[in-house]
Amino acid sequence: MKTKVTVVGGGNVGATVAQGIAYKELADVVVVDIIEGVPQGKSLDLMETAPVEKYDSILKGSNSYDGTENSDIVVITAGLPRKPGMSRDDLLWKNEEIVSGVTREVVKRSPNSILVVVSNPLDAMCEVARRVSRFPRERVVGMAGVLDSARMRAFIAMELNVSVENTHAFVLGGHGDTMVPLPRYSTVAGIPITELIAKDRIDAIVDRTRNGGAEIVNLLKTSAWYAPAASTVEMVEAILKDKRKILPCAAFLQGEYGIRGLYVGVPVKLGRNGIEQIIEIKLTNEERAALDKSASAVKELVDKLKIAA
Ligand code: NAI
Ligand code: 2OP
Repeated sequence: MKTKVTVVGGGNVGATVAQGIAYKELADVVVVDIIEGVPQGKSLDLMETAPVEKYDSILKGSNSYDGTENSDIVVITAGLPRKPGMSRDDLLWKNEEIVSGVTREVVKRSPNSILVVVSNPLDAMCEVARRVSRFPRERVVGMAGVLDSARMRAFIAMELNVSVENTHAFVLGGHGDTMVPLPRYSTVAGIPITELIAKDRIDAIVDRTRNGGAEIVNLLKTSAWYAPAASTVEMVEAILKDKRKILPCAAFLQGEYGIRGLYVGVPVKLGRNGIEQIIEIKLTNEERAALDKSASAVKELVDKLKIAA
């Protein structure tokens, strides 16, 4: 298989992303991690899974970047996950250092790749990857909105006791407590949930979505990985198959939604060139105010980054 995806960080999210890519036979995968034996062991385990699951993706693990050359996509999951009582923002300094170092290494070897950033705090880490790589905004995209809207879809399906396949949810903004779930644009079989669910229950779903990451951290004592990895794989698939799928992703805005020079979650068209288009939708005054508040929270973090713009 010629298509290659490098996954940096072979922890919970990274290894599950590698597994998802292999199961869907999207590409060969190189997993890079600093812990000796871990990327090698997990990759070998996945190679030994292949005969049972019937995929021919080749997986390799490494503690160096040799072998990652000319990757089509690099998924960055390296970093520290959130621990109980720790906000995503607490991770800022440590993960900035890690994501800067990783980006420097991968872009040297894969100058034409598309970077899919997962490490938290997500929107700020996208900016770190953009500044270090100097890639155009089309090729540095962040995973968060797919996860946040998947959580909202799961809660809507639970509320109405319907198939998750009938649900569609829309979440804008930064990947943090100020994210902006949009009930007006969230539907079940095309019907807005505002027609199907009482306001107090919608408010509860919105609140649970905003706190979806923390809910799992409180249970697991570390952050989620199945839904984050599945969401990342959906983005990888959209890019590699040039699906031009509209997905909520963190994108560097240059005036869209009245926001300039910041990563914020918005609907984008994802295809072989990465972000093919940023889709602008009409917002009510209340929704716009919530998006502006979320963008301000991202800006506050980005302003604290050590790396110069
Ligand atoms: P984890 O701790 O299981 O895995 C992280 C891996 O990164 C570890 O194996 C570690 O050795 C590796 N690592 C650390 N420094 C490295 C370096 N310089 N080079 C290569 N590898 C390095 O953590 P997990 O759960 O996989 O989460 C990874 C990141 O993704 C965290 O920052 C977490 O907060 C974030 N995350 C983001 C989500 C999102 O929606 N954007 C969802 C879930 C997690
Ligand atoms: C999540 O939302 C921690 O960002 C991670 O699960």
